Amino acid sequence: MRSQALIFLGAPGAGKGTQAREVSKHFSIPQISTGDMLREALRNQTPLGLAAKAKMDAGELVPDEVVCGIVGERIVQPDCERGFILDGFPRTLAQAECLESMLQAQGKGCPLVFDIKVDQDLLMKRLTGRRTCSVCGEIYNIYFNPPKVEGVCDKDGGKLVQRADDREETIRQRLLAYEKQTSPLTGYYRRKGLLQEVDGNREPASIANELIDFLGKA
Ligand code: AP5
Ligand code: MG
Repeated sequence: MRSQALIFLGAPGAGKGTQAREVSKHFSIPQISTGDMLREALRNQTPLGLAAKAKMDAGELVPDEVVCGIVGERIVQPDCERGFILDGFPRTLAQAECLESMLQAQGKGCPLVFDIKVDQDLLMKRLTGRRTCSVCGEIYNIYFNPPKVEGVCDKDGGKLVQRADDREETIRQRLLAYEKQTSPLTGYYRRKGLLQEVDGNREPASIANELIDFLGKA
């Protein structure tokens, strides 16, 4: 795989995190999830986390300057030299432009963008059914990919938790924010010739194989 920035685009529940974990493990490159970083900041009660909380709880986007700041600090770390996966960033045109100048400043080329497309009617069930291991971050779904023992991670026995923003009302707001602010990025990257569409309505393993295969040849 070439050393480059990979962007995983897609609606809430499309499977960005699920796929980013697999690709990250396979190629030993970091998964940079702005959502995970903001939740971590909130757990640690940092000013950043506390400032983002209201927006996240409401299912709205955190201001561009905030997320661009955390991504800018992260992608200059040494483990990003061989490439990295951006999971949930950029999410607005302003963030995409900001990323472009950050990559340019680092002498990095254009990103490769995967748009994971999933039928709208599946997203709500994926999100209300999601459970995440509080220890290792493994992602489950009580409907589609349940753990062997309810509430317990198969990998390390960690407790499975539900995200605070996975309530129906908040999910609706997140889907709206995606439609309004993030979906225009698909056209933006397509026009630049950087977009790859991925059918996200399949088994997670089959999607991961396709991504890994594609990147292995890239
Ligand atoms: P973030 O954490 O990025 O949430 P999101 O975009 O809403 O996406 P999700 O993490 O909910 O979905 P996913 O695509 O990762 O799906 P997953 O793999 O988990 O952001 C949260 C908040 O932080 C935002 O609302 C905003 O406030 C803030 N934020 C973050 N980044 C920001 C930015 N750049 N700018 C501004 N604000 C920002 O899968 C979902 C479920 O489906 C799981 O249960 C999984 O097991 C299941 N599943 C996955 N794939 C499949 C499959 N193929 N078949 C069946 N089930 C599947
Ligand atoms: Mg995610």
